[in-house]
Amino acid sequence: MDYLIRQMGYVVMTNPDPEESAEDLSEIVGLKVTEKNESGIYMSSNDRRCEIAYLRGEKTGAIAVGLEAMDAASVDEIARRAKADGLAIVDDKPLIAGVERAVRIATPFGPVIEIHTPVERNQPLRHIGTGSVPTRLEHVNLRVTDALGFQDFMTGTLAMKLSDRTANNELAWYRAFDGYHHTIAAGLGDGRMHHYAFDAFSMEDLIHIADTLVIKNRSLLWGPGRHGAGDNIFTYYRDPNGCAVETSVGMARIDCDPLYEPRVWSLEPESGLRNLWQLAPPPAAFGEAGIPFL
Ligand SMILES: [Fe+2]
Repeated sequence: MDYLIRQMGYVVMTNPDPEESAEDLSEIVGLKVTEKNESGIYMSSNDRRCEIAYLRGEKTGAIAVGLEAMDAASVDEIARRAKADGLAIVDDKPLIAGVERAVRIATPFGPVIEIHTPVERNQPLRHIGTGSVPTRLEHVNLRVTDALGFQDFMTGTLAMKLSDRTANNELAWYRAFDGYHHTIAAGLGDGRMHHYAFDAFSMEDLIHIADTLVIKNRSLLWGPGRHGAGDNIFTYYRDPNGCAVETSVGMARIDCDPLYEPRVWSLEPESGLRNLWQLAPPPAAFGEAGIPFL
């Protein structure tokens, strides 16, 4: 099956104090503000106009996770499939300015997914600023109320591919056309967004993030470690809204896509699925992180 999704798009969140959220992400991870007005703030780590949007609102939560479609025809094809599958179309207008076409789908499993044409690349590739300055928004981790139902949505409606899964399908990792091991990860749960993740250049950047947290009288939520699924080195902290933020180095790439067979993991900590470096389960606070979809 041909891909309809080419890569990660954007994450759109809302809360009463977007300035605080933006300042925190800038100081710790190193994204820059690309646009700012009364309704909210766009942030990016590269040439894209927006990777993270914090919009002003009364409630705190996620509005949608954006995935970049191959082209406008792919957006239309996904809209057609979503309607045929009986899924709820929230809107056909993009959440982010400058995006040509989009369809926003409220999945019955909790997450809201916006399929959109590529975000404008209208920024300098690099910028001067605080934080570690990652390369890009890498992936998003979701909790879904029906793991197999969500798997059908991801591999059927969206035509993404399964990279890894657990034997009981409780956890699964999905890739897009760009070949990175996962753009979306999903685990069985209450339908929230658990974390958004950035791709850093090196371990030094993860050290910088940890030290910055200490200066801000905070600390890491989990890590450093190396995930079994994805093979990436990770750390996590908690953002001001309660969502976890991962910074990761060296996510695996699927080099020969048509021949790749999804790996099947045990949920037992000894499998190294979550952390090859330390087989103890993650701390309870890590599992409790996340924000609801509104
Ligand atoms: Fe992750």
